[in-house]
Amino acid sequence: METNNKQNESICLFDSGIGGLTVLKKLINKFPNENYIYLADLARVPFGDKTKEEIKKIVDEIIEWLVTFKPKIIIMACNTSSALLNHQLSAISHQLSIPIYGMIQSCATEITKSKHKKISVWATKFVAESNVYKKTIQNNNPDITVEETACQKLVPMIEGLSFTLEERNKIINEYLSQTSKDSNALILGCTHYPLISEDLKRLTNIEIIDPADYLINDLCRGLLQQSSTPLHTSTQISLYTTAQKEKLERFSKLYLHLKGDVKVNLINLNKITI
Ligand code: DGL
Repeated sequence: METNNKQNESICLFDSGIGGLTVLKKLINKFPNENYIYLADLARVPFGDKTKEEIKKIVDEIIEWLVTFKPKIIIMACNTSSALLNHQLSAISHQLSIPIYGMIQSCATEITKSKHKKISVWATKFVAESNVYKKTIQNNNPDITVEETACQKLVPMIEGLSFTLEERNKIINEYLSQTSKDSNALILGCTHYPLISEDLKRLTNIEIIDPADYLINDLCRGLLQQSSTPLHTSTQISLYTTAQKEKLERFSKLYLHLKGDVKVNLINLNKITI
């Protein structure tokens, strides 16, 4: 396979759509002198309603493509892919000689050190049904109660970008009514959900937890420790999508506060059409 030498030493991230930009934004804040490559698979969003086999094929294809950039690290900025590969991450990292991080492990491990006794998780259908947060949290502390809710309407709502406040409130309230009132914290188990955290904060007092914060702490402790001589002197971002180029252009410019024209590269990954 052809390798892109120009992009060496980059941090590659992917998601089904705009959700992973919530992770990218936090990464840029913490590690500004890095070269980022972001892929949104907008041709196949949402991932969370697909079968295990379908998600596996998609993720394999994406990782195979990202590897051509010779990244120094790959981040699955997607809980659905992370849930699927949760137990295989170190094997795949070892096989590819590239560290691969998911969204779940750092948060589900660290949260057990908090005082929380009951935790709710909102996630895609695939993540909620896999019980990955519950299993990982209880593996560390069986005394913590964990409830996981599949919030299938949220990704289409967030990707839709045009829902009114009233429409968003109605959908969010539907899931709040399924969430225990005595939960101490709500984990946003889908990288799209931080995009509605302001809406959520208006509707509930529950403590909101974004797993990206735990992932970044992990990266700080490990791989991305700030070195005295950074490789780059500014943030470099290359954006790719498999569809809806204009949407990613418009949204990333707004959300990441990018100046000037934003160029999104349209790529064709859809050997697998699902
Ligand atoms: N943002 C992704 C996640 O964290 C994928 C959502 C989807 O495509 O269903 O799970």
